[in-house]
Amino acid sequence: MSIVVVGSANTDLVIQVDALPEPGETVLGGAFVTASGGKGANQAVAVARLSGAVQFLASIGRDHFGDDLIQKYRDESIDTHLIQRPDQTSGIAMIYVAKNGQNSIAVAPGSNALLSPAHIDGAEAELKKASIVLTQLEIPVETVLRLAETAAQNDATFVLDPAPAQALPDGLYALTDVITPNETEATALTGISIKGERDARRAAESLLHKGVKNAIITLAEKGALLCTEQGAQHIDPVAVKAVDTTGAGDTFNAALASALYRGESMVQAVVFANRAAALSTTRLGAQPSIPFLDELQAE
Ligand code: RIB
Repeated sequence: MSIVVVGSANTDLVIQVDALPEPGETVLGGAFVTASGGKGANQAVAVARLSGAVQFLASIGRDHFGDDLIQKYRDESIDTHLIQRPDQTSGIAMIYVAKNGQNSIAVAPGSNALLSPAHIDGAEAELKKASIVLTQLEIPVETVLRLAETAAQNDATFVLDPAPAQALPDGLYALTDVITPNETEATALTGISIKGERDARRAAESLLHKGVKNAIITLAEKGALLCTEQGAQHIDPVAVKAVDTTGAGDTFNAALASALYRGESMVQAVVFANRAAALSTTRLGAQPSIPFLDELQAE
């Protein structure tokens, strides 16, 4: 049994700024950093660091950005044989990171947009062996739907990080074992504007009503809310001084999947995911900031 992560891979071009630029504003930034990113790849790297064996299914262009990304995954001992290499440019993310840790991201999907349902079908043998399948929304939504169907057929736990926010096909909810929106994403999915925990609970219940089995609304510095048929439970935040929140959601999802894979309960898994995500925000960059298991065990 294994964890399979399916999703995007980007090269992140990061500029540190005092404050995020307003529309029409030019700001002079500080350091410029290039780092491996992409929500799918960040989650694959985080699973590798927190859990060990992971397969990453992705579409990465035949360019030097793509070559570098794949080498980085190999350095992390990620199984890359399910990665397709179309004759396309690889995904690029332009990221501003402000002094307060907040960010602003625009992604050119490039080859990520070519990850198709046929690619999922082609990986059926590996997906049959998966106990957990983890994905996000930087790849075509029809591919996500096929993945969810395949996971359900094979009795794998399907974990969906609905980021970036977008509308989902109705049929996807009932195939989703765990969904992990942040407040913005939960609002996009449910139409409920979240101003406090009561709204978060209403949004989570709405997701359960749509067919999801476990809804976890991540609330940034306010922790997380776990909602199941048995009821709702608030998980306390971990207080840290955030330097860069890029990739924190990815670390959360991967840590959650890793803990579930180890057989922890949903509550224990959310607690672990909160700790891992909090630690990731204390360092710069998406993949460079992802913690290793021994760092969390040492805390
Ligand atoms: O979640 C953070 C990621 O979003 C970045 O690494 C960037 O590539 C975008 O995909």
